[in-house]
Amino acid sequence: MRKRFLTVLALSAGIITGTSNSFAQKNKVFTVKANEVKAEVQPTMWGLFFEDINLGADGGIYAELVKNRSFEFDTPMMGWKEQKEGNAAGSMLVHNRGAENLGNPRFLRVKLKSDDGSLGLTNEGFRGMGVKKGDKYNFSVLARQQGEKSVALTMELVDAEGKKIGTATLTPEGKAWKKYTASITATDTDQKAKLNIWAKGAGTLDMDMISLFPENTWKNRPNGLRADMVQLLADMKPGFLRFPGGCIVEGRTLDERFQWKKTVGPVEDRELLVNRWNTEFKHRHTPDYYQTFGLGFFEYFQLSEDLGAAPVPILNAGMACQFNTGELVPLDQLTPFVQDALDLIEFANGPADSEWGKLRASMGHPAPFNMKYLGVGNEQWGEQYIERYKVFEKALQEKHPEIKLITTTGPFPDGKEFDYLNTTLRGMKDHKVDIIDEHYYRAPEWFRENVTRYDSYDRKGPKIFAGEYAAQSVAIASPDNKNNWNAALSEAAFMTGLERNADVVVMTSYAPLFAHAEGWQWTPDMIWVDNLRAYGTPNYQVQKLFSTNVGTHVVPVLLNKKPVTGQDGAFASATIDRNTNELILKVINTSDKAMQNEFAVEGVKKLAAQGTHTVLRSDNLNQENSFEHPDAVSPVQKQISVSGKSIKLDLQPYSVNVIRVKLS
Ligand code: AHR
Repeated sequence: MRKRFLTVLALSAGIITGTSNSFAQKNKVFTVKANEVKAEVQPTMWGLFFEDINLGADGGIYAELVKNRSFEFDTPMMGWKEQKEGNAAGSMLVHNRGAENLGNPRFLRVKLKSDDGSLGLTNEGFRGMGVKKGDKYNFSVLARQQGEKSVALTMELVDAEGKKIGTATLTPEGKAWKKYTASITATDTDQKAKLNIWAKGAGTLDMDMISLFPENTWKNRPNGLRADMVQLLADMKPGFLRFPGGCIVEGRTLDERFQWKKTVGPVEDRELLVNRWNTEFKHRHTPDYYQTFGLGFFEYFQLSEDLGAAPVPILNAGMACQFNTGELVPLDQLTPFVQDALDLIEFANGPADSEWGKLRASMGHPAPFNMKYLGVGNEQWGEQYIERYKVFEKALQEKHPEIKLITTTGPFPDGKEFDYLNTTLRGMKDHKVDIIDEHYYRAPEWFRENVTRYDSYDRKGPKIFAGEYAAQSVAIASPDNKNNWNAALSEAAFMTGLERNADVVVMTSYAPLFAHAEGWQWTPDMIWVDNLRAYGTPNYQVQKLFSTNVGTHVVPVLLNKKPVTGQDGAFASATIDRNTNELILKVINTSDKAMQNEFAVEGVKKLAAQGTHTVLRSDNLNQENSFEHPDAVSPVQKQISVSGKSIKLDLQPYSVNVIRVKLS
């Protein structure tokens, strides 16, 4: 007890002083049994969880710079400011065409009484618009002329002080709705730019879908994604992409649930929906948070493909978020929900001449997306989930036995609700359960203490998807949580346990993925962005180290014949990569002391004389990365010499180490 108290005290001292103890631990010999394959590592092992939270999609990775582009927010002019120049007289009024266009009912009618002066609109963007000197920005608007006289438009990019940093003009002509485009080159860089649109000429013009995108999106796609944010994901070489969440799948109410069919097809027809994170936290209210679905299911599948990641959609199970209303769809009315799931499979995988495959093809992707996984529900709990899952499972199994179904065990990794679902799902005889999704938002200590969580799981039962996890430095979803080194180091320790159990754990993802520095609701988050910059946290660096050093088969690494699960603060796992013929060793030193260890590799003829040792570390457990210091905690690689079949390593205090050596 006293020893444990002293250890805790020592650890806290490290946190407070940010220093480590320079006295090294005694030399230990670890054994790596390189020819004893324990498990195959699935290509999906280390993946990504994406949710539109923290301005992750609109205002984040979705590169649209105009907020409320089609006037559909509850307050139609939110984000817009009316302007007037000279003696302009007239009006700018929001019209609603209702049933004529259910997906996009509102538009703005600008009426000018004379040629004298201009009426204008300013869009503030998402906490401003990030623009870069010399870059091109593509403006577009759906417009139609009313009456005989045309109205000329001048678009201006202005910086935070109102100085003009780019202009373009166009004059819509014609009485039918049509898309007009113009491009603006920015003459300066600003995070907080705005867009002005001036209308001039005695006429009337209807405008909708007023949009501004950088030309430089990921793969230069129109309606595209922020290239810098996608690049950070691509650098991780993720095994899968889970989308679209998260609680956003469930919605605060059933009416506000995510419905994939409303997110595909022409962008201007996708029906806007309030974002459930708009009102979720009183202390982080975000009244301008809506989902335009410009980033919809087609784009999620496309992103998965770009990243080389398996697409993992999660659908609503006929249940609204149980932290909110918990509304249920009566069991006898579940059919449309199940049909959504069946149609999604056709949208993703069906032939280009099938009903939903045709839509996919018309959006530019005739080839199937090769979807193999489908989640039913996010963080559901109780009998009501089991009842609904059974209905989904029956229909899906009958028509698509090839799709692996993911079920949930709720928001917590233990407790009454978890135990009920875990036992019930595992006990079901007549319904298949392929993969069980577990979530853990817990203290850093929990991650270190639970490294053996999966050692005792049933090897013949369902597989595990660690679908959302992150160490919380203060408390679950506390706004004071930090993406610090203590959290990341503890996650790394835990991840060795995931890897050691790769025969059971087949998918894992940190959550949430993105946060906008001025628009977040939840922390910690893996990647932080502002309007021009993005950086990976120490947690990102840990995830990336694991996902770029996967290997194909798990082999044992032992200390005194036992797995390395925290002895004196050491955690380890090992894989071999049959494609590159390498041994990949991951060793985490969570202690404040250096370790000088030897890894004796058995079961191989020889090791190459040289290998690489990548170290991710900080002396300071409170260390974070930031926009100013994005690489404060970042990996450093060096060459190491190997003598015979022994690898001698200096493992620095508080360090994550990845060693790669060729086998021969
Ligand atoms: O990751 C943030 C939220 O945490 C997710 O939306 C939800 O699934 C979990 O409770």
